[in-house]
Amino acid sequence: MPAELSPIDKAKYVAARRASALVEDGMKVGLGTGSTAAWMVRCLGERVRDEGLRITGVPTSSRTGALARQLGIEIVTLDEAKWLDLTIDGADEFDAELNLIKGGGAALLQEKIVASASDRMVVIADAAKEVAQLGAFPLPVEVVPFGWQTTRTVIEELLISMDVLGRTTSLRLNGTQPLVTDEGHYIVDLHLNRIGNPRALALALNQIPGVVESGLFIDICDMVVIGGTDGRVETRDLHTGAITQEVIDVSEDSNIFKDID
Ligand code: 5RP
Repeated sequence: MPAELSPIDKAKYVAARRASALVEDGMKVGLGTGSTAAWMVRCLGERVRDEGLRITGVPTSSRTGALARQLGIEIVTLDEAKWLDLTIDGADEFDAELNLIKGGGAALLQEKIVASASDRMVVIADAAKEVAQLGAFPLPVEVVPFGWQTTRTVIEELLISMDVLGRTTSLRLNGTQPLVTDEGHYIVDLHLNRIGNPRALALALNQIPGVVESGLFIDICDMVVIGGTDGRVETRDLHTGAITQEVIDVSEDSNIFKDID
């Protein structure tokens, strides 16, 4: 029931609900990964069931694909869809230019490929994800397992010449073993505290042979939908500069909470 939602879940939910209203009949939609994106998938599932909304979804992870299927959303691969109208996804941080850090859920590679193959990317986030400068959240970098320790050393050497505040790195673990992504790679998290020039860092990281992708999303996101713990939602369109604000009444949405554990 809505009363059981924590304040942060309420913020994530209202952002997700507002963004799901951007989806129109017949659209091909990229479905993001993470707790905020899961709310969005549930909202879309509800629209499919109650309104007969017809959409084709391309999930950005195996877990999002499983959730979407469970909710009756038609799922295809990106190669089948070829190009998408819209991708809606969460983020770990966003700045004023809507540059992002993503990958807290280890899905950054598929997320970046899907978002980049979309006419529009909309990020959904609670207000705490907005930052003046990226970097407090550890930057995930997806690396191939072959020679990953050497790749990590090369990354650390690169960081010496970059405008960042911290330079330690860590291999992301799943228990005691390296976490393996959907694409069979490892994640090295960079603890940078502040990234002075995200664009330069993203380009430099992508020059390192063992690096597959970084979680820096530069010039990919077009709009952010920010949820507040009080139910307020703000949308910001990067291109038009338009900002809208509204309040979403969560109490009207009790159906969607019934199946949530
Ligand atoms: C997964 C991601 C997520 O979108 C990001 O970690 C935000 O997750 P959440 O909505 O749970 O806070 O990038 O790789």
